[in-house]
Amino acid sequence: MDALQSIDKSRLPKHIAIIMDGNGRWAKERGQDRIYGHHEGVKSVRDIVNACGEIGIDYLTLYAFSTENWNRPKAEVDALMELLVNTLRKEIDELHKNNVKMHVIGDLESMPTICQKELNEAKEITVNNTGVNLILALSYSSRWEIIEATKNIAKKVSEGTIIPDEIDEELFRKALSTSDFPDPELMIRTSGETRISNYLLFQLAYAELYFTNVHWPDFRMPQLIEAILNYQQRERRFGKTSEQIQKHNKPA
Ligand code: FPP
Repeated sequence: MDALQSIDKSRLPKHIAIIMDGNGRWAKERGQDRIYGHHEGVKSVRDIVNACGEIGIDYLTLYAFSTENWNRPKAEVDALMELLVNTLRKEIDELHKNNVKMHVIGDLESMPTICQKELNEAKEITVNNTGVNLILALSYSSRWEIIEATKNIAKKVSEGTIIPDEIDEELFRKALSTSDFPDPELMIRTSGETRISNYLLFQLAYAELYFTNVHWPDFRMPQLIEAILNYQQRERRFGKTSEQIQKHNKPA
C-alpha cells in the first residue's frame, strides 16, 4: 500500500495551516542567496496545493509574508513582492483549471499596489471555484488581526449596534479575517523551529502542531502525507478524557 492509500479519508483535517520556513537556510546550504530559496519555495507551494486537491483537503492556509517580514533587508522584501506578482501571473490559469479558490488574509493595504491588483484579480477569477480553498496570509500577524477585530467590535458597541454582553466566541470569530473558514485542525511548520510566530493564534487553539526539520523547498507531497498520517495517530480530546473520547468513537 503506498503512503497516499494509507491515509484514512474519513479522518482528514479539513483545514491545514502551514508556516513555510527555511527557504533562506536551504539556499545557504547550497551556497546560493536567500532569494533563490524563495524561488524554490514556490515549487513546493505548487506541489502542496496540488497534493491537497488530490488528498481532499478543503482549506490550505500558507504564511507567505508576516508583518514582521517587512523588517527584512529591502532587497529581500522587494524580491518577495516581485516573486508573488510573477507567481500569481504565471500560476493563475493552472490554479483556476484545478478549481482552486483563492483568498487572502492580512493587512493588504500595506502591500504594493501591484500585489493588491494581482491578488484581487486572482480572487475574482477563482471566486466560483469549488476545490481547495487556498488562503494566502500576507502582511499578516495574528496580534494585528485580533486588534483589528477588537477595534471593529468596539466601534459597533460605541455606535450602539451591539451591547458588550453580546460579545461571545461566535461574534468574535465573525470579526476575524478568517470568518469564512473553519479552524485549522493541523498546523505544520517546516525547518526545525518550534514556534507559532504570531500565526492564527485564536484559530489554532485546538490544532495539532507538527514540526519537521525539512526546509520548505524540500517539503513536498510525501512530507505532507507523513504529517497527515502523524495527525491521524493523535487523539484529539478537546479537554475531555481519553475514556470519553474512546466511548464516543465506539460503533453503536
Ligand atoms: C520563510 O523562509 C519564508 C518566507 C518568509 C516567505 C515564503 C515565501 C515563499 C515560499 C514564496 C512566495 C510565496 C507565494 C505564495 C508566491 P525564511 O526566509 O524565513 O528562511 P530561513 O528561516 O531559513 O531564513
